Amino acid sequence: MKKRIAVLVSGGGTNLQALIDAQGSTLNSGEIVLVITNVAGAYALERAKKAGIATETVLKKELGSQAAFEEKLVEILETHGIDIIILAGFMTILTENFTSRYPKRILNVHPSLIPSFCGEGFYGLRVHQAALDYGVKVTGATVHFVNELCDGGEIIAQKAVPVLPGDTPEILQRRVMEQAEWILLPQAAETVCASLGGK
Ligand code: GAR
Repeated sequence: MKKRIAVLVSGGGTNLQALIDAQGSTLNSGEIVLVITNVAGAYALERAKKAGIATETVLKKELGSQAAFEEKLVEILETHGIDIIILAGFMTILTENFTSRYPKRILNVHPSLIPSFCGEGFYGLRVHQAALDYGVKVTGATVHFVNELCDGGEIIAQKAVPVLPGDTPEILQRRVMEQAEWILLPQAAETVCASLGGK
């Protein structure tokens, strides 16, 4: 039986797209059955709908608190019988109340080589800006399990990507996505789903 995957997104959803495109090839042991966003109208929802995947929008502002937000997420995940949760550009932090329910069942993709340029405040283009400001010549992406430490869970896979002269955060972001994130994330999802077997 394929593992039931929920992908949590906040924005454009190119990593979601990479996962959708990998189904039936790289990603065989799991199936994306649900996409949840915390941002109304996120473009990632269009990608999900096009692929015939169920979507849910959960807004913290409407629910009033982090605890209520996380409870709602859990309720939806349980309704859909989710085995694996993939954070793919999900730009809000989940507390231990949530993460402790899913040990080694939540994956995140981060656009740097952890432990560089990670933790609170490092997300999206800010990560690439920080790498350029520091002057590193190599950056990359990391897929890791999510626990109560922001970007601190066990690393599943990493891939290095060069920083080139003239890079802007946008150019570097695109290269890291193309050369690392979109490849690593489906592979890591497959590895984790396959490793669960009948569990
Ligand atoms: C990706 O680069 C992802 O690694 C990053 O946000 C982007 C989302 O793009 N995530 C983080 O920074 C999390 N800390 P996408 O919506 O096109 O997949």
